[in-house]
Amino acid sequence: MKFIHLSDLHLLPHPQTIRGIDVIARLEAAVDSIGKNFSDAELCMVTGDLTDMGDAESYRDVRRILDRLPMPWHVLMGNHDVRSVAQAELPDLPWHADGSLQYELTTDAGEFLILDSLVTREIGRLCETRLAWLKERLTAAEQAGRDVYLFLHHVPFDIGIRWLDGIKLENGDQFQDVLKGFSNIRHMFFGHVHRPVHGSWHGVPFSTVRATVHQAALQFGDTHLFIEENPSYAVVLIDDTSVLIHDHSYLEENLPITK
Ligand SMILES: [Fe+2]
Ligand SMILES: [Fe+2]
Repeated sequence: MKFIHLSDLHLLPHPQTIRGIDVIARLEAAVDSIGKNFSDAELCMVTGDLTDMGDAESYRDVRRILDRLPMPWHVLMGNHDVRSVAQAELPDLPWHADGSLQYELTTDAGEFLILDSLVTREIGRLCETRLAWLKERLTAAEQAGRDVYLFLHHVPFDIGIRWLDGIKLENGDQFQDVLKGFSNIRHMFFGHVHRPVHGSWHGVPFSTVRATVHQAALQFGDTHLFIEENPSYAVVLIDDTSVLIHDHSYLEENLPITK
């Protein structure tokens, strides 16, 4: 199975920019690149911060631009999203009655569990109800002999960049308490950090991906610093024996070295 991991679009109404970056052009370029190079991917998963300020026009732009993808796309909520506005503009998503956006996708590779950690712009947390849903879905997948892949905006642990660690998932310990009994979780995909970070947490592999907009500098201190590193998305390849993550710096794909 092949799918695309895209994250942190931070759309704003045209012609607003973030740090001089044309956010809409960056997403358009990503969608063009995916369509040109990876049109055979089955899905595109977008791990939150769809918009920067949660305005209605930007959610309409999310739909307008992502609808150009040749494959189905699925999103989750990030701390820059505003659920009520997103729900009004994207009403066909599987919203729960309490306004949260948690759902399961059945794929050839296994069950994709999409989690909603949005509390406020500053706080990411999985409440008891959402954790109970996660446990219930993990149990069902295990009983059915199905592998599981988790998707969440906030990283639930420290990655060593102190200011980002200050805005991680607030209750990573509770999240881990739910996960620890299960051996069928093959990978976790996060957004939020605007950097590519790969590794494992309590034995479960994870990856993040760059934003389509500004990137967080790699410095292990408190300085809140964004840099003009190029954006990327990830192409994920899954089979029975491996989960492979290929980061693709898509703005440079038309610049091969010719000498
Ligand atoms: Fe973000
Ligand atoms: Fe975020």
